[in-house]
Amino acid sequence: MKRLFARKTLDLLMEEMAGENRLRRVLGPYSLTALGIGTIIGAGIFVVVGTVAHDKTGPAIIGSFLVSGVACVFAALCYAEFASMAPVAGSAYTYAYTTLGEVFAWIIGWDLVLEYTMSASSVAHGWSHYFQNFIGLFGLSIPEALSRAPFDTNIATGHLMATGTVIDLPALVISTILTIILVIGIRESARFNAAMVIIKLLVVLFVIVVGAFYVNPANWHPFAPYGWKGLSFFGEMFVWGAGPGGQPIGMLAGAGIIFFAYIGFDAVSTHAEEAHNPHRDVPFGIIASLLICTVLYIAVAVVLTGMVSYKDIDIDAPVSAAFKTVGLPWAQFIVSIGALAGLTSVQMVLMLSQPRVLLAMARDGLLPASFFGAVHPKFRTPWKSTILTGVAVGLFSALIPLRVLLELVNIGTLLAFVIVCVAVLIMRRIAPDAKRPFRCPWSPLIPLLGAGFCTILMFSLPSSNWWRLLLWLIAGLIIYMFYGRHHSVLAKMRAVSKP
Ligand code: ALA
Repeated sequence: MKRLFARKTLDLLMEEMAGENRLRRVLGPYSLTALGIGTIIGAGIFVVVGTVAHDKTGPAIIGSFLVSGVACVFAALCYAEFASMAPVAGSAYTYAYTTLGEVFAWIIGWDLVLEYTMSASSVAHGWSHYFQNFIGLFGLSIPEALSRAPFDTNIATGHLMATGTVIDLPALVISTILTIILVIGIRESARFNAAMVIIKLLVVLFVIVVGAFYVNPANWHPFAPYGWKGLSFFGEMFVWGAGPGGQPIGMLAGAGIIFFAYIGFDAVSTHAEEAHNPHRDVPFGIIASLLICTVLYIAVAVVLTGMVSYKDIDIDAPVSAAFKTVGLPWAQFIVSIGALAGLTSVQMVLMLSQPRVLLAMARDGLLPASFFGAVHPKFRTPWKSTILTGVAVGLFSALIPLRVLLELVNIGTLLAFVIVCVAVLIMRRIAPDAKRPFRCPWSPLIPLLGAGFCTILMFSLPSSNWWRLLLWLIAGLIIYMFYGRHHSVLAKMRAVSKP
């Protein structure tokens, strides 16, 4: 039992950081903020906004963005405290290792697969939708059978149904191209990312400013056609705001799904090793990128729901289609280019972050180092885990529909946020005097609110998500019991240090 809950000490983390050949420190506060925005703005605002407004909220999606944004700000303050204390790769996985112990660290690392790999697959779907929309502007299309995943959720019944197609080919193609690029090692440079961020931001501002002239306030009535709630407890015990098939609907249910749009600010913490001054700049990057995106998202949601009725909102490429609806077909071109550039960079960073977390776990002996720690002799990249990530992203994006993917991503990421909030409280108890260059304000209130809000958002997701999450975690625990427990580097160190 003791071994399961063995913790890495902060001193050990610092020692590991100093001892190993670490990454180059090249990122300042603005590059880190750009990196955050680069990972945040993607399929959430360009694609998911359509499904949520159409199926779950109507214009009340504006409230969903607000609730979700507030939950993320609380969690971001907790991430910032940890990132300033222990600026090492591994993010939430490493934080859990130092506070809750090895088995929790493993669970969170395993859970981060849901965040990074499944998010990347969801973004690939978004890319596919915008790509098809874009070539459609030139009168081109790809065969229907190759245009989307072979099954999807039926909104009317909440059950899965066949779509009559075979595969989402563009999603598979973009995932394959990005995998090759990441293996060869043309890593997302800060400059490339900055260019993408500028294009994305310009397009988002374009949507807000130009779209504002085409707002018809009548579209905001009714404002919350599905209500304001949407909270269920495993769908069984009590359901509050239930839609077809017992699925939660309403503003709160929308918040649980649109949460996807905010995922990515935590990726700034995985780059802590590359920051000039991680203690100060990483908290700045995390919080600044999140605040900027929250304001932009709310503005886009206001404009978009004002431009088209939620009933007519396009669920594949909603932002671009809205401009067509109001009679500005040329604007579709601009929006599609921005969306494609933005989505490519988000997917790339997510696919870059996944092998890093796996690498951190392999360094600790919880995964086989020969595979997950393998660095290519020529390209100097963790090529085996990058290919494995790429294959998983390619298959998931080609075969599993966006709606199903999103729900898995969100519940997994929300769990990671809850654990980071709780870990801050634990760290304050077990290491009250450790240096905290950034302190989460009003502790324990903010960490508790962060954990509380994220838990509520988890309960606003359909109960099937919980069962899938549970199955995923049980599978993870089985792997830990058979592999990680016996190979843990920390366990071996403790065994050696004992007389
Ligand atoms: N937040 C990222 C997106 O919306 C994952 O694409």
